[in-house]
Amino acid sequence: MPAVIIRPATPADAAALSAIYNHSVLHSTATYQEVPESVDERRVWIEAHGPNHPVLVAEVDGVVAGWASLSPFHSRTAFRHTVESSVYIAGPHQRQGLARALMHQLIDRAGPAGHHVILAIISADQTPSILLHQSLGFRIAGHLHEVGRKFDRWLDLVTMELRV
Ligand SMILES: CC(C)(COP(=O)(O)OP(=O)(O)OC[C@H]1O[C@@H](n2cnc3c(N)ncnc32)[C@H](O)[C@@H]1OP(=O)(O)O)[C@@H](O)C(=O)NCCC(=O)NCCS
Repeated sequence: MPAVIIRPATPADAAALSAIYNHSVLHSTATYQEVPESVDERRVWIEAHGPNHPVLVAEVDGVVAGWASLSPFHSRTAFRHTVESSVYIAGPHQRQGLARALMHQLIDRAGPAGHHVILAIISADQTPSILLHQSLGFRIAGHLHEVGRKFDRWLDLVTMELRV
């Protein structure tokens, strides 16, 4: 069995996180970003996430295989108890329980960090992600029609929520 470690991300992980994320930017509707990010952008993003907004990585045999985060949902102050989750697992490491392990740790940390609701905002065609979040207790709270356009097609967005 491979050795799996879940640990907080550090700025030194930026390149690994970017590589995993940029695969979805270029090949998937998992993110509505269309231009790959730079490693520097990801480093700044990691540094901006304080202890109440964790970024976790899953290492498999010493290699970063996936990551997950809780980010502020909105800058308006009354949203202060709501966060948005993200989770990305590198292709060869999918279906090995890494996303579930990362998300369990984020959910465990959310309450003590003062968060009340976690939102997952997911492209409606991303069935694996919707099933993952349902299995974690998230429920579908909204469906927006044709709000995204990527790869020359309209995309619906599903909002999923978990009260912690
Ligand atoms: C969605 C994603 C994060 C799942 O990661 P993963 O590590 O493969 O998921 P896990 O192995 O922890 O699976 C947990 C559950 O998710 C669901 N799931 C994951 N992949 C699935 C798939 N390909 N088909 C159907 N269900 C799937 C299942 O319910 C699974 O439980 P099970 O294995 O007991 O059936 C991963 O496929 C990924 O990174 N996709 C691209 C990026 C993305 O969509 N991110 C989410 C953006 S919000």
